[in-house]
Amino acid sequence: MTYAYLGPHAPDRDTRFAGNNLACSNCHLEAGTKKFGLPIYGLAFDFPRYSARTGAEISIEDRINSCMTRSMNGRPLPVQSPDMQALAAYVNFLSTGVTPGEQIPGHGAGAIPNLDRAADPKHGKLVYARACLDCHNTNGSGIARSPQALSLGYAVPPLWGADSFNDGAGMARLITLANFLHSNMPHGPIIGTRCCRTKRPGMWRPMSNCKRGRIKQGLSTIFLRTCSISRLIPPMGLTPIIFPRRNINMDPFNRSALKSRD
Ligand code: HEC
Ligand code: HEC
Repeated sequence: MTYAYLGPHAPDRDTRFAGNNLACSNCHLEAGTKKFGLPIYGLAFDFPRYSARTGAEISIEDRINSCMTRSMNGRPLPVQSPDMQALAAYVNFLSTGVTPGEQIPGHGAGAIPNLDRAADPKHGKLVYARACLDCHNTNGSGIARSPQALSLGYAVPPLWGADSFNDGAGMARLITLANFLHSNMPHGPIIGTRCCRTKRPGMWRPMSNCKRGRIKQGLSTIFLRTCSISRLIPPMGLTPIIFPRRNINMDPFNRSALKSRD
């Protein structure tokens, strides 16, 4: 929900500190509680801590602002602002019951070995077309809940371009991204089966009104259910999306589902 309070289209102009419509939870998965999904639990006693990036001790507010300026491509939140206080309070809440010095497992996004050769963008493009494009869209632009109202955020967030993180972000580092992808992508669970896409952007209908169809998108064909009549559902918090069937069981540890595709 970050976009709704801090995003460039937030109703209160004074709180538009983020420069994109991402949510913290787009990267800190399951509201920052998922092991190896960049969790933010158990951090309360880790701050203030030394930061190699700044060469000085940083507070939890400084660390959050590091994501505000890079991952959220925005401006730092004033420490005393209600939004910063709320974010810091949430991080502390996720340390409930943790004792000083205790290390909770699952921090970060995992640790796959570094490459012993240069990264290969051509191969990456093929993998993107096969395993990411259906959700993250052509040009990495993601799928907005409503293209008319970006303040509703994204059903699938953008990976690069004007409405994503900037080059200074942790996610822009090859190894951080690779670990995150290895542990967390493709990301299946938001797939819904009860609604379908309509021709009107951002609007959805109950399944009973749906027709099956297919569209060509980039290199792949997406099978969708389109709708003909009555009862539009306005976009809600988590708008269900119909993704290609073959994506449905693609959890990060089910590599066989990936291999058996096409
Ligand atoms: C584009 C992805 C992205 C977004 C969006 C994002 N972050 Fe982060 N965040 C990261 C990465 C990557 C790290 C570094 C994780 C690490 O060092 O293991 C990080 C680190 C952090 C940490 C320190 C975690 C630790 O283990 O020390 C906190 C706290 C944090 N982010 C809070 C936030 C908050 C609050 C927001 C929303 C205002 C946010 N982040 C948005 C990617 C993101
Ligand atoms: C089934 C749909 C789906 C597929 C396939 C998928 N993703 Fe994602 N991805 C998501 C969703 C949804 C999120 C946001 C997570 C959340 O909010 O819980 C996300 C988040 C991300 C993020 C962090 C947020 C951001 O904006 O940067 C990155 C990076 C990412 N995906 C990269 C990839 C890559 C690369 C692939 C292909 C290897 C991929 N994803 C495949 C649905 C998907």
